[in-house]
Amino acid sequence: MIDPFGRAITYLRLSVTDRCDLRCTYCMPQRMTFLPKKELLTLEELDRLSAAFIRRGIRKLRLTGGEPLVRRDIMWLVERLSRFLGTGELDELTLTTNGTRLAHHAADLARLGVRRINVSLDSLEPETYARITRGGTLAETVRGIDAALDAGIEVKINTVALREDNLEQAVGLAEWAHSRGAGITFIEVMPMGSVEADRLDQFVPLTEVRRRLEERWTLTDTTLRTGGPARYARTDQGGTIGFITPLSHNFCGSCNRIRVTCTGQLFMCLGQTADADLRTPLRAWADDAPLEAAIAAAIERKPKGHDFAIRRSAPPAVERHMSVTGG
Ligand code: 5AD
Ligand code: SF4
Repeated sequence: MIDPFGRAITYLRLSVTDRCDLRCTYCMPQRMTFLPKKELLTLEELDRLSAAFIRRGIRKLRLTGGEPLVRRDIMWLVERLSRFLGTGELDELTLTTNGTRLAHHAADLARLGVRRINVSLDSLEPETYARITRGGTLAETVRGIDAALDAGIEVKINTVALREDNLEQAVGLAEWAHSRGAGITFIEVMPMGSVEADRLDQFVPLTEVRRRLEERWTLTDTTLRTGGPARYARTDQGGTIGFITPLSHNFCGSCNRIRVTCTGQLFMCLGQTADADLRTPLRAWADDAPLEAAIAAAIERKPKGHDFAIRRSAPPAVERHMSVTGG
């Protein structure tokens, strides 16, 4: 699938639930309204949808949420999708998780062919972790990370940079990740969906994070690209640090990805409203041709890029929360 800007679309991020067992302050309001369960695609529909995308040329599939591991029987879907690793139709099957249930699933994920996983972790101080996530237990997530590493899964830590909550901990988080053989990527907070705090108070440009890291290490930029928005640097001790800077540096030119929500809504860009309904063709026809036609037509409308901006008291750039489309 080639979009109007010549970008090959090979990467699908599939949200399997909008629900989450945490309530991170930058992601959701405390009282988040979730979708009625009947709106969600069934696991069988998610499998069928994934197969259609893979036939159209998707090579990398990431399950997201919300928190994908809170979806009931999610391992059934992972097992189904893992068949495409076996046939060589998929290069990679992976997940983004908050880690709370990872200890329980790590061995099965490894067995089913998951080689790498992204785990969100914004603080190593139990109180700060509990405050940012509104109730999360740091030890549980750390146990999940260790279980994944023990199972031979490569772990990348995702840390959203927050001026008040974790700017001081950037070096400590990177040291901690590297000491476990994990990489870490810092992310600028994006204005997606309403939360209680003003985005400008949460936001810290990663140039500031980087300045702190450079007090500890000499960082050398690498040419490493994973087809995504992250730019990577290496420390003088060999650890990798990624930077995702949607606000201070736009990365849309090389975008290879699309996103599908747990209700089968295809979003062609994280920061735009352009979408396509895939649930209707999925449910209306047993034959996949109309579904594949809807996918192809949507790719023809993929926007050039997002226009996120952080301004005081400004409305969100898009109304939907990150938990709807997955990070
Ligand atoms: N801005 C930036 N990152 C966010 N995430 C969730 N909401 C936001 C936001 N508004 C992150 C999560 C996770 C990834 C999937 O997206 O922390 O690491
Ligand atoms: Fe849940 Fe991830 Fe959102 Fe936190 S950032 S509330 S873990 S979906």
